[in-house]
Amino acid sequence: MKPGEELFELSMWGGAVERRYRHLRPEVEQLPWQDFDVSKATPEALLSARRTWTEAAFQEHRTGAACAASLQALIAARAPIDLVAMASRFALDEMVHVELCARLAQMLGGGAPLAYDPKHIIALPSPELSPKLQASELVIRNFCVGEALSIPILRGSWHAARQPLIRAILARIVKDEAAHGAFGWLYFDWALDLHDEADRLHLAKEAARTIDAVVSRWSDIPLLENEHDDQRLGWMESRAYLDLAKRSLDRAVLKPLLERGIDPRPHLTKSLDA
Ligand SMILES: [Fe+2]
Ligand SMILES: [Fe+2]
Repeated sequence: MKPGEELFELSMWGGAVERRYRHLRPEVEQLPWQDFDVSKATPEALLSARRTWTEAAFQEHRTGAACAASLQALIAARAPIDLVAMASRFALDEMVHVELCARLAQMLGGGAPLAYDPKHIIALPSPELSPKLQASELVIRNFCVGEALSIPILRGSWHAARQPLIRAILARIVKDEAAHGAFGWLYFDWALDLHDEADRLHLAKEAARTIDAVVSRWSDIPLLENEHDDQRLGWMESRAYLDLAKRSLDRAVLKPLLERGIDPRPHLTKSLDA
């Protein structure tokens, strides 16, 4: 591990705290955890699924931090109370998603080792920017790009999933994420007119930086053309995933950004054909 890194390990406290959490989100315990059967899976498929779901738990964990940072910025920017209240639910949703993914990894044989630097889990805007521009930067990165792009991909994975527990977990996540994906555009219905041309240029560059980061992760996805349904304990077949990701970037991210006068295209450094 590099200096500052820690292993991504999670825990539940249990007792009264867990009961209160279960009361808030009873749907977690209602998923078909007992019926999970991986007896047909090969050791390779199990190992790959453990990695996939540990990585998914980590991404949900990061998204939780991103939602919390966005919420703080929305409050600092004095965004409308009802809009802030809407966003206050998101960090809890993400913690539920963390639990779902981590618990599945556990049932597949345990989380795969994953090292990360908890001090740099998410990037924060420059404190020099105005509170409104800081909020808009976080919303454009985390919601207009991050969440808006993850929804069609999660939905595709849900439809592709055959195993009942995995299908139920993805269905739960998709249900929550619909509100997250819509939030960025609602926010800009309020915030767009508060920004001048220079701010919009800043936002276009930040959107481009986030898109670049997403596109560079695409090249890490191994193309396993012949993954068999019974062995696929995670996401979509890789080629279909990449095709959907590219289409979703156009439809769910670039198009609505352009409609709002924010054009990240001149600032992109990665080819979208990765
Ligand atoms: Fe999530
Ligand atoms: Fe989310």
